[in-house]
Amino acid sequence: MADYARNRMFFASSTTLMLAVAAYMSFSLLWHEPIPMGWRIPLTALLFLLSQTITGMRVLITWRPDLPFLLVRVGGFLSSSFMVLSWFVLLRDALLALTFAFSLAIPGMESAQEQIFAAALSIPAELAMLAASVAAAGVGMARALAVPSVRHVDIPLRGLPEDLDGLKIAHLSDLHIGSTFTGEWLKEVVRRTNALEPDFTLITGDLADGKPERIGPLLRPVTELRARYGVAVSVGNHDYYSGLRAWVETWRAWGMTVLLNEHREYSVRGRNVVIAAVTDPCAVLFRSLDASMGAPDVRTALEGAGEGLRILMSHRPRHAEQNAALGCHLQLSGHTHGGQFFFLFPLVSRLNGGFRSGLYRAGSMPVYVSPGTGMWGYVPMRLGVGAEITLITLRSAKATPEAPASPQNAA
Ligand SMILES: [Fe+2]
Repeated sequence: MADYARNRMFFASSTTLMLAVAAYMSFSLLWHEPIPMGWRIPLTALLFLLSQTITGMRVLITWRPDLPFLLVRVGGFLSSSFMVLSWFVLLRDALLALTFAFSLAIPGMESAQEQIFAAALSIPAELAMLAASVAAAGVGMARALAVPSVRHVDIPLRGLPEDLDGLKIAHLSDLHIGSTFTGEWLKEVVRRTNALEPDFTLITGDLADGKPERIGPLLRPVTELRARYGVAVSVGNHDYYSGLRAWVETWRAWGMTVLLNEHREYSVRGRNVVIAAVTDPCAVLFRSLDASMGAPDVRTALEGAGEGLRILMSHRPRHAEQNAALGCHLQLSGHTHGGQFFFLFPLVSRLNGGFRSGLYRAGSMPVYVSPGTGMWGYVPMRLGVGAEITLITLRSAKATPEAPASPQNAA
């Protein structure tokens, strides 16, 4: 419950924050000379409208997950452009504040300072900033929509039996098929993943953005994933928003292994490997669902599991230390999308218990947080962090260097 309350608080505060950003941007971009008075009110209204694109998209997608594909992309492009523009404005104003401070400290700088202010606040300079924002959003969107490349990660595990040294896990997360990505994109992701010849392929949630009737044919290529021992799926918040019961029925009808607070055991090179998964904290919102689709519970997920290597799939990386204390040896997560753009990294990290992207250690347990294979459709842009198909190779800790020591020290 606490996690979901935090989630709601996040969107309430992000909506308020975006309104404050719009107010600041209006003041900084529009309410000064030489911007004509007649432009100011309509452009201010436009900025306030654009600032609410993410909230508007979220509400629409929550209640109407089958929004037209083009509308989602246009909305995403607008919100991306707005975010980059706000960053440019903050950067410009910080530089102007520095210039002003210098002019106070150094005699004779006043006229130079006035010229710099006039140039920076001119209409051509502001139009150039707008054009740069739109271009950066375009580049970021092209990067975000491309099929991701493979990232190879070695993870040292203390006590890993020699027989399991070299075990390969393909980790996919946050496919978000429907709102941003299509079936063709997914087919190529599946082809690249299968080419890695993994022992396991594990997907840590947010597969779908939309109901099975519409998204089913787009997501179907996921059934073509192949791994030597098993392919398994855990669920994320967007799978709940998209109708979890129908999706679980669909996936199971397709022959997929969907783990809801449960585990499956595999005999690998004579050793027992436990693949467990928990549900998502947003389950508390969906009370009509079966008990098996309720709140995440690691103890239930591990109930009856034999001794052996225990790998936990948890869409959200939070609570990794508790999961380690409950006997998990490795946690795979997603949800953060790596922060998506560099100026949001500290915020995303803070909202996810210090986790953002890459390899961490929670107590004695390594945690790998995928930056996402796909991403959400509200802001389809990546600047400073790429998407990835992750190929994890487990190594005996004796033979390899230590993983980073805490969530603050990402690999
Ligand atoms: Fe996601």
